[in-house]
Amino acid sequence: MPNFLHRATVAAVSLLLASGHVHAYDFDPQSTDSIKDVAQQLAADLMSMYNGNQVGQTPGLLPQPYYWWEAGALMGALIDYWYYTGDTTYNEITQQGMLHQVGPYNDFMPPNQTLTEGNDDQGFWGMAAMSAAEYNFQNPEPGQPQWLALAQAVFNTQAARWDTEHCNGGLRWQIFTWNNGFDYKNSISQACFFNLAARLALYTGNSSYADWATKTWDWMVAVEFIDENYRIYDGATVGHNCTDITPYEFSYNVGGFLLGAAAMVEYSNKAMKTDNAAIWHERVDGLLNSTELIFFFGDDVNDKVMIEVACERT
Ligand SMILES: *[C@@H]1O[C@H](CO)[C@@H](O)[C@H](O)[C@H]1NC(C)=O
Ligand SMILES: *[C@@H]1O[C@H](CO)[C@@H](O)[C@H](O)[C@H]1NC(C)=O
Ligand SMILES: *[C@@H]1O[C@H](CO)[C@@H](O)[C@H](O)[C@H]1NC(C)=O
Ligand SMILES: *[C@@H]1O[C@H](CO)[C@@H](O)[C@H](O)[C@H]1NC(C)=O
Repeated sequence: MPNFLHRATVAAVSLLLASGHVHAYDFDPQSTDSIKDVAQQLAADLMSMYNGNQVGQTPGLLPQPYYWWEAGALMGALIDYWYYTGDTTYNEITQQGMLHQVGPYNDFMPPNQTLTEGNDDQGFWGMAAMSAAEYNFQNPEPGQPQWLALAQAVFNTQAARWDTEHCNGGLRWQIFTWNNGFDYKNSISQACFFNLAARLALYTGNSSYADWATKTWDWMVAVEFIDENYRIYDGATVGHNCTDITPYEFSYNVGGFLLGAAAMVEYSNKAMKTDNAAIWHERVDGLLNSTELIFFFGDDVNDKVMIEVACERT
């Protein structure tokens, strides 16, 4: 087996070991068929854990111990999966799960989740709805909430929570005062909000969203959650004016900002703001550079393995 295949298999296996399943995939990253084939097997493995579509279960929830946000991330991944493979197997289940979790105000704030739901958690469902809008994923029946409106509702509720009283801005991690982490501002909450704002700007052409994306980025830099080398740290507490930074780096923070920054390049180009496009382009490059440095391991430039350094052994 060529080295790159070996490495790819090792990566797939360690992913599955982490979830308790042991199974190796024959994967050729040069072949579209192989990529789709392995994606199909991974999707089937993943969905073997989901029973929200069965009688007596709750659509859109994963069994314990998985959190509500992880189910939102799963929905987003299934939408991506359908878009890139054309496989519609999970579309009904995805639509059902998404629509069951919208809550009474169609903004992904279901009352069952008030003991855990933070801005980041809501953000994951919002980003899934945004993907559904962008890809024109099968639309809900008229009279049901539509994808774009759901993404906008998440954005609107979060913009209203922007907190200038502490650390001169930013979203708190938690939404509800009674939950642990209400005193913490974290990068992933800002990443989700930024990501939504940037993609809404591109999708709608409305500059208000772009202004919020810019404001969120600028705040991240001001509190140094994003440093001069584009490294992104976990967050800090409001009691210390966001100066007691927790130094962990997680790839989802970079991923959220990377996609949003790329959307801002595209938005700026469409709006004929070439100076802004250049600024966001530089940020995309910077994030990519730091990502490669922090999360990718291996000597050969074309053969690196991605590792979540804060939780996995390198
Ligand atoms: C909330 O919990 C109840 C009881 O388990 C369940 O019937 C309902 O479907 C849940 N709602 C959501 C949105 O998860
Ligand atoms: C708190 O942090 C913000 C953002 O970094 C800064 O603008 C502000 O001056 C700080 N306030 C105090 C009292 O240090
Ligand atoms: C643009 O978006 C903002 C924020 O949601 C909204 O208040 C405003 O009405 C929108 N403007 C237009 C022209 O749709
Ligand atoms: C990213 O890395 C490339 C290659 O090393 C370098 O030319 C570029 O200046 C870097 N960009 C940023 C924004 O750090």
